[in-house]
Amino acid sequence: MTTLDTLERETLAAIAAAGDDAALEAVRIAALGKKGAISELLKSLGGMSPEERKTQGPLINGLKERVTAALAEKKAAFEALALDRQLQSERVDVTLPLPAESEGRVHPVSQALDEIIAIFCDMGFAVAEGPDIETDDHNFTKLNIPADHPARQMHDTFYMARQADGSQPVLRTHTSPVQVRTMLSQQPPIRIIVPGRVYRCDSDQTHTPMFHQVEGLVIDETTHMGNLKWVLEEFCRAFFEVDAVRMRFRPSYFPFTEPSAEVDIQCDRRGDEIRFGEGKDWLEILGCGMVHPNVLTMCGIDPSRYQGFAFGMGIDRVAMLKYGIPDLRAFFQSDLRWLKHYGFSALDVPTLAGGLSK
Ligand code: DAH
Repeated sequence: MTTLDTLERETLAAIAAAGDDAALEAVRIAALGKKGAISELLKSLGGMSPEERKTQGPLINGLKERVTAALAEKKAAFEALALDRQLQSERVDVTLPLPAESEGRVHPVSQALDEIIAIFCDMGFAVAEGPDIETDDHNFTKLNIPADHPARQMHDTFYMARQADGSQPVLRTHTSPVQVRTMLSQQPPIRIIVPGRVYRCDSDQTHTPMFHQVEGLVIDETTHMGNLKWVLEEFCRAFFEVDAVRMRFRPSYFPFTEPSAEVDIQCDRRGDEIRFGEGKDWLEILGCGMVHPNVLTMCGIDPSRYQGFAFGMGIDRVAMLKYGIPDLRAFFQSDLRWLKHYGFSALDVPTLAGGLSK
C-alpha cells in the first residue's frame, strides 16, 4: 500500500520535473515500459490469490491510469509550448516596407480578377461578396436544386459536420449562392458581379479543390437574352484585348436558369500559343442563362414583374487562357520562380483607359 503511494508520488513528481520530451520519455519507460515499475506490479497480479487480486488489481490499475493521464497532459503541454515557440520565431511583420531587391508580383488570379472588376464596373455592375461556408439552402435549394436533384452529384461537394439543429453547411461549390443572398436582401434593379473562392472535391491538371469563379446577376423589368449576349461579348472583347471575339452560345442546362447556355469563344491554337478572335478552335469559358422563375420566387422577387440573366465563369480558367499558363495546380503552389515569371507588376493597375494587362 505505502509502496504504491510512494511510487505514485515519486512518478508524478518526476513527470512534473521533466524538462523536455526525452526526460518525460525516460519517466514513462521507468514506470510503464516493458520492465517499468508499474508494469512489473501489473505482472505480479498473476501470482496473487484471488482475494488479494481483488484489492490490489483496482489499486494498481488506478495508479497506472493516473500516471498515464499525467504523462499525456505533460506531453500536450510540451507540444503547446513548442508550437508557441515556433509561432514566435516565424512571426512576420507584414507592414514592413519591401526591400528594393525583392520586388513583389501580383498573382495572375488577382490580376485577372482586377481586370474583370474593371470591365464590369465600367458597365455599371457593383461587386458583391458572400461567405465561403454556406448553408445547403443558399448553395442548392434556393437555386432550384432540391435535396434529391441529380445536379447535386455533379458538384463534388465538401460537406461540413452536421450541426445541432440537423443542418449541414457546405463549402460553397459555386459563387451562385451570392445571387440568392443578394436577391433576399435587396429589391431590383440588381446588377452585380460576385468574385470569390469556391470548393470542389477534385484535383488534376485542370482542377484544384479550391478555385475562383465570378458570377454575374442582372435583375430588372426588361432584361432579356440579347442584353446578356451583349454584356458577355463586350466583356470578352475587353478582357482578351482583341477588337472582335466570335462567340458561340450552345444550349445547355443549369437548374437555376431557363433557358441556359454555355459560351465558347473562337480561337486559334497553334503550338503553345492561343490567339482569340480567329482560327477554328472553340473554348468553353462560361455558363449563363435567364434566371429561373422558381429562383426568383424562392428569393422573394415577383417573376411576373421581374426577370434577369446570370452567368458564372472560372477566373483561373480565363487567366490560364489569357496568359498562356498550362497547369492550374501551379497557381496554388506559391513557387516564387513561377510567380516571377507569370506575375504582374504591383504598380500596373489594370484600367480600361490605361490598358488591362499591357
Ligand atoms: N454555377 C455554375 C457552376 O458553377 C455556373 C453558372 C452557370 C452560373 C450558369 C450562373 C449561370 O449564374 O447562370 O457550374
